[in-house]
Amino acid sequence: MSISVKQPIKKKYYLIDKIIIISDIKFDFNIYTKNNEEERVSLVLEKEKKLFEKDVDILISYKYLYVHESEKEFYDKYFRNYMSKKNGPRDMGLFYKEVGYTVDKMFKDPERLASYSEVKDIVTNMVSTILDDDFLISSFISILSANYYTHTHSLNVSVYSICLGKHLGLVESEIEELGISALLHDLGKSKIKDEIINKNGSLTEYEFNEVKKHPLLGWLLAKRLGITNKNILSGIRNHHERMDGNGYPDKLKDKDIHIFAKIIGVCDVFDALTTKRVYKDAVSTFETLIMMKKEMSKHLDITLVDEFIKIFKEETQSK
Ligand SMILES: [Fe+2]
Repeated sequence: MSISVKQPIKKKYYLIDKIIIISDIKFDFNIYTKNNEEERVSLVLEKEKKLFEKDVDILISYKYLYVHESEKEFYDKYFRNYMSKKNGPRDMGLFYKEVGYTVDKMFKDPERLASYSEVKDIVTNMVSTILDDDFLISSFISILSANYYTHTHSLNVSVYSICLGKHLGLVESEIEELGISALLHDLGKSKIKDEIINKNGSLTEYEFNEVKKHPLLGWLLAKRLGITNKNILSGIRNHHERMDGNGYPDKLKDKDIHIFAKIIGVCDVFDALTTKRVYKDAVSTFETLIMMKKEMSKHLDITLVDEFIKIFKEETQSK
């Protein structure tokens, strides 16, 4: 296995899930790694080359593996086929842990550009997993309480948003943007004092006004990270707008609120309610959604809540 090509890494390489690296197989795409210091990529496995045990050991030892954008569709196809052939559903607990680690890093140091590219890669992998026909939102929910750690809320909201985006029929590139926007929706909280963000009990007026700054702070941070995509930015800035215009920061109403912000708003409330109540099964989840539909019509886009309910109904019916 020789390193034969070196070229600058821009945004043209996507993270590969190492779960696919096993012996006695061939890929129809090249695999690369990244040299951290030089920010350059190196070819580590040529396509159509059969993998032996020793090659697997070497490939696994690289921290990150990538595929070039020109071959990403081959990787995505391979990944989906691989996951669907594997016995049983994917180990969601492990997946959750891996993604959570990157999100944690991102929140600790939100200005690091490298973190954003990792977040982007992770979301691409999340989208691949969720677009798989075998993915069940209910199986994801069942692992939540056992795997709680910092910033899981952002991760949960991202998974729910991707599921809702898939259900609504968004195209894959839009679903990826939505996943990124949802993962970063509360990024601005990293700029607000910990004692306010983590306070137990009710907030003073001053503290609440501080918390209310987070969508705008997140939007500014995202722009500083180089994000220019309007869909991603709108989701971050406007996820606390309300249908009746009493939200913040822009007091937008109904049709003026971007669809990403509305989706993230629904998933944000859903995760807050289900996490607090430590609901574990599909019935309780369903009840939460019904309660949201009945009590939050001034706040949330109820047509989206209805669509979210349908995901759970469809899963229950297909069991
Ligand atoms: Fe928020």
